[in-house]
Amino acid sequence: MLDVQVDLTDPRTFIPEPPYQAWAAMRRQDGLAFQERRNAPGFFSVTRYHDVDSVARDATNYSCESGMTLDTALGSQDPAAGKMVELTDPPRHRRLRKLVSSGLNRSVANSMAGALRWRVDTWVADAVRAGAVDFVEAVSERVPSAATGLLLGLPEWEWDKLADRASRALCSSLSHEDEEVGDLSARRRSTATANGQLLVHLAGLLDHAELADDGLIRRLLDAEIDGERLTREEVLLNCLNLAIAGNETTKNATTGGLVAFSRNPDQWQLLRRRPELLDSAVEEILRYTSPIQHVTRTVLRPGTLGGTDLKPGDLLCVWVASANRDEEIFTEPDAFRIDRDPNPHLAFTAGKHFCLGASLSRLQIRLVFESLLSRVESIGLLGPPIRRPTNLVTAYASLPVELTE
Ligand code: HEM
Repeated sequence: MLDVQVDLTDPRTFIPEPPYQAWAAMRRQDGLAFQERRNAPGFFSVTRYHDVDSVARDATNYSCESGMTLDTALGSQDPAAGKMVELTDPPRHRRLRKLVSSGLNRSVANSMAGALRWRVDTWVADAVRAGAVDFVEAVSERVPSAATGLLLGLPEWEWDKLADRASRALCSSLSHEDEEVGDLSARRRSTATANGQLLVHLAGLLDHAELADDGLIRRLLDAEIDGERLTREEVLLNCLNLAIAGNETTKNATTGGLVAFSRNPDQWQLLRRRPELLDSAVEEILRYTSPIQHVTRTVLRPGTLGGTDLKPGDLLCVWVASANRDEEIFTEPDAFRIDRDPNPHLAFTAGKHFCLGASLSRLQIRLVFESLLSRVESIGLLGPPIRRPTNLVTAYASLPVELTE
């Protein structure tokens, strides 16, 4: 059994950059690296593309029900298992996914494009006019806040409140100066408090008099498939899932994409010359930034993965961000190349739990860069991007930039 050289549970390991070199070393070694934890079960790290892909596609041998993140997977069933789509194994997963996806497919995403485009355009135009801005505040965080608000059918004054609570629930609000950031119990306490506040807030929204009839909350409350409806608790938990899954992810993809362009000005000029590469650029942003860095799974049946024997109950940390830099699949994986083809990244994973918001987030990233493309000649960093310490999302607190017309 191999020992990891870096502490992958410590959020500080992930700033200023995720541990790409440590993952590359793990990919080259036989077997899966194992890391002990003091107050929680140890875990195997799955780092090679093919292993990540095969775990993601196998919902029979690997379970989501004991938690989906290193901080929450502590060896027992998650209380939301069986009720929240992301924390549910087949066969119950199929029913939940069908109900949730009915309000979140590509045509729903496309129908939101008009309402999102003019907003994105206004925010980008204001940011360009201002010259120097914090791009996170000016654009990145506003886009998913609006998209999630529109998706759920919330009145506009509720959007930012929900987005803020959802961000805190995903990423502990501890700052990197705070010495408690390395303490799992402290992180769990702060995340549990934020989750509780988000749930109470959402419970109030379910009865909001101004919910849009075609919004997802109303649809989920009324949806019926094969004679089955979601309970109120299931609607609440799945809205929580959507609010959390939809906000930090897309916000950091957009921010990380802008950082990548600012550090690779030739790629920005290439996109300006060949705007038809925009969809391909969106895929490269997703691969290169890997907004969700890991998911976890618990082994259900004895088997072998990447040369390591596994037994029921073993915890796997599936490093999507490592798979997306696997040199066996991607030529020069650390290079940001908007014309990469093919680009079979796993940013949304694969298989039964493949991200339900993929179309919506692709749309948002596309709208932001489309708008930038029509206005901006060069992107200059005015200072280092400020990252938030977390091993779950590739999170940015701020990005001071100058956007020049
Ligand atoms: C760049 C943005 C996004 C990224 C990188 C991303 C990534 C992911 C990943 C890695 C998973 C876990 C898959 C697994 O466990 O195998 C997931 C699941 C999910 N995502 Fe996303 N996501 C993004 C945006 C969104 C948005 C905008 C929404 C909805 C508003 C959303 C809703 C969901 C849901 C509901 C699931 C659970 C699906 C299931 O378990 O069947 N995501 N996403």
